[in-house]
Amino acid sequence: MTYRVRVNVPSGSYGVFIGEGVLRRAGALLAGLGQPSGFYILSSPRVWRLWGARLQAGLRPLAACQAILFDDRETAKRLATVERLCRALARAGADRDAVLVALGGGVVGDVAGFTAAIYLRGVRLVQVPTTLLAQVDAAVGGKTGVNLPEGKNLVGAFHQPHLVLCELATLRTLPAREFRAGLYEVIKCGVIRDARLFAFLERHLDVVLARQRTALSQVIARAVRVKAEVVRGDERETSGERRVLNFGHTIGHALESLTGYRRFRHGEAVGWGMLAESEIAVAQQRLRRADCERIARLIRNVGPLPALPHLSWPRLRAALHVDKKTRGGRLHFVLPQRIGAVGVYNDVPETLVRDVLDRLRSSHQSER
Ligand SMILES: NC(=O)c1ccc[n+]([C@@H]2O[C@H](COP(=O)([O-])OP(=O)(O)OC[C@H]3O[C@@H](n4cnc5c(N)ncnc54)[C@H](O)[C@@H]3O)[C@@H](O)[C@H]2O)c1
Repeated sequence: MTYRVRVNVPSGSYGVFIGEGVLRRAGALLAGLGQPSGFYILSSPRVWRLWGARLQAGLRPLAACQAILFDDRETAKRLATVERLCRALARAGADRDAVLVALGGGVVGDVAGFTAAIYLRGVRLVQVPTTLLAQVDAAVGGKTGVNLPEGKNLVGAFHQPHLVLCELATLRTLPAREFRAGLYEVIKCGVIRDARLFAFLERHLDVVLARQRTALSQVIARAVRVKAEVVRGDERETSGERRVLNFGHTIGHALESLTGYRRFRHGEAVGWGMLAESEIAVAQQRLRRADCERIARLIRNVGPLPALPHLSWPRLRAALHVDKKTRGGRLHFVLPQRIGAVGVYNDVPETLVRDVLDRLRSSHQSER
C-alpha cells in the first residue's frame, strides 16, 4: 500500500509518496517531470552503498544518473560542502534541466536542497529521505540550508522539492537510536494536530518500534499530513502558523547547542523539550495533568533519552535567547492545550523554565 500526501503551497504543489517499493517505481512516479537532462544523486557514501543501486535502477529508465557523494556528518553541513557540490555539478555538465536527487537523512536533504536552490539560480529537486526524521519532517516543507560556526541553519533558502519519495525499506537499515529520534518528531505531530495519531502510537507503539510495515506507513503518512497542512498556511514562515511545528524545540534547540550538538540526536533533544514544555503548560494551567502524563509516558516508552546534563542557568538562558524562536527579545513557547492542539505563548517566566528543567533532571537521575 502506497500513501500519497499532497503538499499545496503558493510556490507549487507536490506529492509525497510513502510505501514499500517507491524507489523501484521512481521512474514512473517522476514521469511528470518531463525529460530531465540527467539525475544527479547527492548522497553520503554509507547511504549510497545501502540504497544507491535501488534508486538508480528506478530512475534509469527516465534519464542517465550520476552520483556525487559527500560526508553527511552535521559538521559537514556547511558552505564549503555546498561549494564543492556546485563545482562537481558544473564539472559533470549539469544544466538547468538537471534534477538533483537528495538520497539520505536530514543532513543530506538540507545540503542537497540548498545546492539545488542556488546552483544555476535554482534547479529541480527530488527528496528521497532515508531516516524517519527526514521522512516525516526535514524532506517536506522546503526548508534547506547549512550551519555557520555561529549557529545552526543560519544560511539557507526555501526551495520546495518536485516530489518526495519515502521508501519504507530504507528504514530497515537505520540504527535503532536514529529511528527512535525520528519517532519523537512523530509524537510531536500527534500532540500539535492529530490526537488520533497520538492514540494510535499509544496503542501500537510495539509494532511501530518493530518497524512493522503497515503500522509504520500509516504513522508516517499521518505525520506528513500534519506537516503538509501546517506548511500550506505558512510556506515561508511569515504568518506565524508554522511556529506550531516548534513544540519541544525552544528548549530542544537550547539543549543541543549547549551540549555542542554531540550529546543528543535532534529528535532526542526535542523529546526532552516536549517533556519540559508540557510541564510548563501544566504549571500555567493550560494543559491538564492527565494529558501531560500521557505525553510523558509515550515519550518515555519510545526509549531511553540521554540524561540531561547539569545546565548552568546563565548559559541556558543565553542559549534560549539566541534561538530563532525569540522575537523582540521575548521567548516564544509552543505549549500544548490538549492532545491535538497547541498555542503560542510569550509569557512563560524564565524561572519556571529553570525549575521545570531542574525537576526533570533530578527525577530522571533518581529513576536510573
Ligand atoms: N529542513 C528541515 O525542515 C529540517 C527539519 C528537521 C531537521 N532538519 C535537519 O536534519 C538533520 C538531521 O537529520 P537526521 O536526523 O535525518 O540525521 P542525519 O542526516 O544526520 O542521519 C543520521 C545518520 O543516519 C545515517 N543514515 C541515513 N539513512 C540511513 C539508512 N537508511 N540506513 C542506515 N543509516 C542511515 C546517516 O548516514 C547518518 O549517519 C539536522 O541537520 C537538522 O537540522 C531539517
